[in-house]
Amino acid sequence: MALFMIGIGLNDEKDISVKGLELIKSADIVYLENYTSTLDCSISDLESFYGKEIVLADRTVVENGVDKILEEASSKNVAFLVIGDVFSATTHTGMLMDAKENEIAVEIVHNTSILNAVAETGLFLYQFGKTTSIPFNYSNVKVPVDVFNDNYEKGYHTLFLLDLNPSENKFLEVSEAAKYLIENGVSEDLITVGCSRMGSQDQEIKAMVLKDFVDYKFKKTPQCLIIPGKMHFIEEEFLENFK
Ligand SMILES: C[S@@+](CC[C@H](N)C(=O)[O-])C[C@H]1O[C@@H](n2cnc3c(N)ncnc32)[C@H](O)[C@@H]1O
Repeated sequence: MALFMIGIGLNDEKDISVKGLELIKSADIVYLENYTSTLDCSISDLESFYGKEIVLADRTVVENGVDKILEEASSKNVAFLVIGDVFSATTHTGMLMDAKENEIAVEIVHNTSILNAVAETGLFLYQFGKTTSIPFNYSNVKVPVDVFNDNYEKGYHTLFLLDLNPSENKFLEVSEAAKYLIENGVSEDLITVGCSRMGSQDQEIKAMVLKDFVDYKFKKTPQCLIIPGKMHFIEEEFLENFK
């Protein structure tokens, strides 16, 4: 009996690792958290590739119902699948702590997260400062701009994650995020990088000044935005590919 916490990658059913797939196959119950991100395939695609039925765990299940999942893991093998990597949302760190406190055996299988997939832009991961999120209801929200100013002052890149509600098919888009940042005093002439549906065949990376993103429509979601800080010449050269 154990809890398997498994990252299933960014895009579709085939992003799982062999180790992750083997653990899913040995699980009695398979949960999928489906609120911190979204895949480019359906739940039934996952079910037929994994050969298991999937129980969807929304935010309330994970934040209020962890006890039920942990109780199940004390007598059964329970797989808890996370889109991207397991610990890129703080909620899941809480789950790991609770499992340890309850002396439940845990196996962890990592996978790619948006937090490292953004390296495909050519921006060095080591040069990123604090990551921040822009919510749907951003009026009166200043934290993302404060985080950006702080990072920028130190020469660090800033990754902005954009709010999403997959169950209602709602995604904050880069165009809206650019509007928010400009309205809140970020210079509209800063070179900015937008990314959409990273990890898929349809992924897009685009580099241009912030104000040009206001009218730019990416084909797919989810999306995120980066404002680079001080760039190494290799980063600058690489970004030319996306202009
Ligand atoms: C909480 S984070 C993702 C956590 C996820 N567990 C992971 O490891 O990637 C969710 C946000 O990341 C960004 N994001 C996630 N997947 C993405 C992708 N494939 N392409 C672009 N942005 C993505 C979006 O801004 C989205 O709202």
